[in-house]
Amino acid sequence: MAIHGDPFGARSLVKEQITSAVAAAAIENFREEVLAGLSKSPRQLPCKFFYDERGAQLFQQICDLPEYYITRTEIEILRLHGADMAKALGPQIELIGLGTGAGTKARILLEELRDPLVYVPIDISKEQLEKSSARFREMFPGLQILPVCADYLEPFELPLPRRLSSRSVIYFPGSTIGNFEPEAASEFLARLVELAGDGGGLLIGVDLQKDRHVLERAYNDSAGVTAQFNKNLLARINRELGADFNLNRWRHHAIYNSTEGRIEIYLISDNEQAVHIGAREFQFRAGEEVLTEYSYKHTVPGFIELARDAGFQFVQVWTDDARWFGVFYFTVP
Ligand code: AVJ
Repeated sequence: MAIHGDPFGARSLVKEQITSAVAAAAIENFREEVLAGLSKSPRQLPCKFFYDERGAQLFQQICDLPEYYITRTEIEILRLHGADMAKALGPQIELIGLGTGAGTKARILLEELRDPLVYVPIDISKEQLEKSSARFREMFPGLQILPVCADYLEPFELPLPRRLSSRSVIYFPGSTIGNFEPEAASEFLARLVELAGDGGGLLIGVDLQKDRHVLERAYNDSAGVTAQFNKNLLARINRELGADFNLNRWRHHAIYNSTEGRIEIYLISDNEQAVHIGAREFQFRAGEEVLTEYSYKHTVPGFIELARDAGFQFVQVWTDDARWFGVFYFTVP
């Protein structure tokens, strides 16, 4: 056959065409969501678009900020209680990592687990996925690693493991569940019940309610990295959608809404201004806010109830001494 073994022939051409068609569809979707969000009142932009290459880098920097206690605290809980968690999760499991990125936390957990059989990291960043999978293959030679490059907010297929595990446990660290409004959180958790299956589990990191000053400092850091992270969304819209946001005319602001139990992150227009995205024009008032993110903070009983409504059974929670962060374990009855 002509195609066979011909890397520059028809087959790679088709592959290239598929890749660019997928990229074009992603940009179209980005454009639609941005236009729809900016047409709402009050205006908003979806936080899932923070994470282009630059955004992912900036988020890594956020995790190292002195004010951003979340990452540090979750890792500390894992280090202190990882052995206990491993006991709860049991031996010979399949671990499904959601948005596990570089895999720092998954690695700590895997080192504690007894004879884990399969690890399925699911992440949108292909580069991080490939790098971390290669490292994990060296670190855990007995573990079958089946990376999946996918947006876990969308439906995706799980690879079939070759090895039979005792149970599937989903690992969802980082308090990303905090981006969901309560109803969406409940729907998402219900999907995880299906994904874990009967007898499966969910180990999930959740940021907890605390003093508003601690929270507001974490999202308005003194080095201004969170401001850059927030504004990068506008830079991305300029880059990918040919818009003309002037980044100097926007201000970052994060505030804790204690009634709703959430940090609200905004970009504020410092002047009256017009912005163009393709053929569309948007007028912003001086001081007008564009909501870019919610980061919900839960209570321990509140989160247990949320997960129970979705179909999970609560097993255990591990926290730090200050009770700033919780790692919850649930099973599917
Ligand atoms: C990745 C959603 C957990 O809410 O703390 C950090 C994102 N935004 N600083 C969070 C974020 C601004 C982060 N999550």
